[in-house]
Amino acid sequence: MRSDAHDLAGGGNPVTAGPSASADFWEPRFQAADPSWGREPSARLVELLPRLGLAPGRAWDLGCAHGGDALWLASLGWHVTATDVSATAVSRVAAAAAERGLRHRITAERHDLSRSMPGGTFHLVYACYFHTWVPVDRDRILRDAAERVRPGGCLVIIDHGSVSPWAWRQPDGRDPEIPSPEQTLAGLGRGRGWRTETCERADRAAAGPDGQTATVTDNVIVLRRD
Ligand SMILES: C[S@@+](CC[C@H](N)C(=O)[O-])C[C@H]1O[C@@H](n2cnc3c(N)ncnc32)[C@H](O)[C@@H]1O
Repeated sequence: MRSDAHDLAGGGNPVTAGPSASADFWEPRFQAADPSWGREPSARLVELLPRLGLAPGRAWDLGCAHGGDALWLASLGWHVTATDVSATAVSRVAAAAAERGLRHRITAERHDLSRSMPGGTFHLVYACYFHTWVPVDRDRILRDAAERVRPGGCLVIIDHGSVSPWAWRQPDGRDPEIPSPEQTLAGLGRGRGWRTETCERADRAAAGPDGQTATVTDNVIVLRRD
């Protein structure tokens, strides 16, 4: 079997192989990106995590990009499975984990999540700004991911609720379709056995790559499995 897994913790899982429209879209963008970009954790995750009351356990970061959140969680003692459709992104996460002495805490795997997912269950399943210009059934991916949350664990989704002035734009000026927190919650279809702890829009001050500042909105959804 072809393996794109940078399995630093042992016990690799099958990963996406073959053509993927999402890989075709994202891979060149990562190849062109500065490898040092995206190595800091999301301000929203840093603010939110202590409120979840979870002891460090197993976490899955769905579209990890260069691994800022995954590396931060690993530095706190979490064992993190970091997935992305870009092979370049996951190899950079693996390299950064090694550089930081976090090899034993991060498993970086390439998956097109519309076609494959990592194995196992998790105390924290986490999707941050999991938006894409490629048509994918995001609701189905998030529903399948929710099934991997262990009892007592959390599904955390942080979406853009506004578009920052410095956000990536396609040449046609299109932004990805971004649902409201209520639409995302409805798409998850969680009923009995789950508690919705947060479903809100929250503003924060943000800084752009050239030092610009703006107030941006995040859509934040937190569900806990009983
Ligand atoms: C807008 S970026 C957000 C990255 C990161 N989570 C953050 O907070 O900065 C979306 C990420 O999802 C990844 N992605 C998009 N479609 C995907 C898919 N079908 N399967 C796995 N990852 C995907 C992209 O490669 C990219 O890294």
